[in-house]
Amino acid sequence: MITAPVRIELRPLAIPASIDSPDAADFIEMVRVRNRIYAEISGHDDHRIAADELLPIYQPDELERRLVWTVSVDGEMVGRVGVDLPLEGDSKVAFWLIELVRDVWGRGVGSTAYELVERTARENGRTVLQSWAEHPDAPGPRLAAPTGFGTIPDDHAARFYVRHGYTLEQIERNSAFDLRGPFEEVKRLLSGATAASEGYRVVQWFAPTPAEFFAGYAWMKSRMVTDAPAASLEFDEETWDAARVARHDAMYTDAGRPLLVTAAQHIATGELCAFNELVIGKDRTEATHQEDTLVLKDHRGHKLGTLVKCAGLLTWRDFAPESPRVITYNAEENRPMLDINEAIGFVPIAYEGAWKKVLDD
Ligand SMILES: CC(C)(COP(=O)(O)OP(=O)(O)OC[C@H]1O[C@@H](n2cnc3c(N)ncnc32)[C@H](O)[C@@H]1OP(=O)(O)O)[C@@H](O)C(=O)NCCC(=O)NCCS
Repeated sequence: MITAPVRIELRPLAIPASIDSPDAADFIEMVRVRNRIYAEISGHDDHRIAADELLPIYQPDELERRLVWTVSVDGEMVGRVGVDLPLEGDSKVAFWLIELVRDVWGRGVGSTAYELVERTARENGRTVLQSWAEHPDAPGPRLAAPTGFGTIPDDHAARFYVRHGYTLEQIERNSAFDLRGPFEEVKRLLSGATAASEGYRVVQWFAPTPAEFFAGYAWMKSRMVTDAPAASLEFDEETWDAARVARHDAMYTDAGRPLLVTAAQHIATGELCAFNELVIGKDRTEATHQEDTLVLKDHRGHKLGTLVKCAGLLTWRDFAPESPRVITYNAEENRPMLDINEAIGFVPIAYEGAWKKVLDD
């Protein structure tokens, strides 16, 4: 088959100060295309986000430079390219994505965009390039993660990564919990976890974080990159303080996205020891997203993971009764966390590959 040559344009996306600015049209169109691509890949609409709710994460941040380009083919916007450059310390890492509508796949558009990714990484002194993609289940040959946990189909995106020199490092499981189903098991698990965690109590807040929890929440957030299983992926250590917590929270509150933090507090010392986050858009009929969950190492073995997850879900059901389900991501080798999720009733709905390439210095 002879494919007609395509006119590909990669254009830096101007980030508007507000979604009502006269120059916001390209950003709004980028989000529309983004949402369409996620729906095409996953077969559902739970990854959609409103343009004004995505905008805050693109505003200038002293800890990360986010570069984004729109991709147009023959004058029509068909996708985007993103390169995120962490600015903490002497980072060698770049995270990137290329997302294109299905109609244009297999015509060299992704490869043209990829040249831009690698050039941008090199120009910024980054040699460790990492990227994630959903690989919808399909028959045929499969690729296994070197962790020994999970496989994905050797699909179009996988071939794209391999062709460009990437190796599969880890598989992430995307799971969903039905918020409209029975909650008896959640209640039962919560009472078991409460009995097993004498000496701790549940504290909850919606962002912004109350000042009394700044330090404890900051420390737990900083442990996410050090404590979550990362296979051979590379993440810079993060320093969190009250100012960073405030900036983190503002990304949700500025977007009008309620973020519920459910934490376990050690009563004797006041220390926060475990936490779980749930978030939704302004449209409460959307899916809920479960974000970070962590139990500090010294406090494991008291069912605090189950405690914060179940307490969070019960509060959430009253707060967002129209949200159909919670979706979450976990490393496929993270058995302790998957055990908790599976017991609660989360079921796998998709798998993502985490891919890495190291450039020569
Ligand atoms: C993964 C993705 C970015 C690839 O983009 P793409 O434009 O389809 O990629 P390319 O066309 O450059 O290369 C893919 C295939 O097309 C072939 N191809 C490249 N140029 C071509 C051309 N001019 N004409 C025909 N075929 C071509 C390539 O040889 C390659 O073939 P292979 O699969 O047998 O190796 C795209 O499918 C996508 O957006 N997927 C969803 C999001 C995603 O998974 N992104 C991954 C990175 S975050």
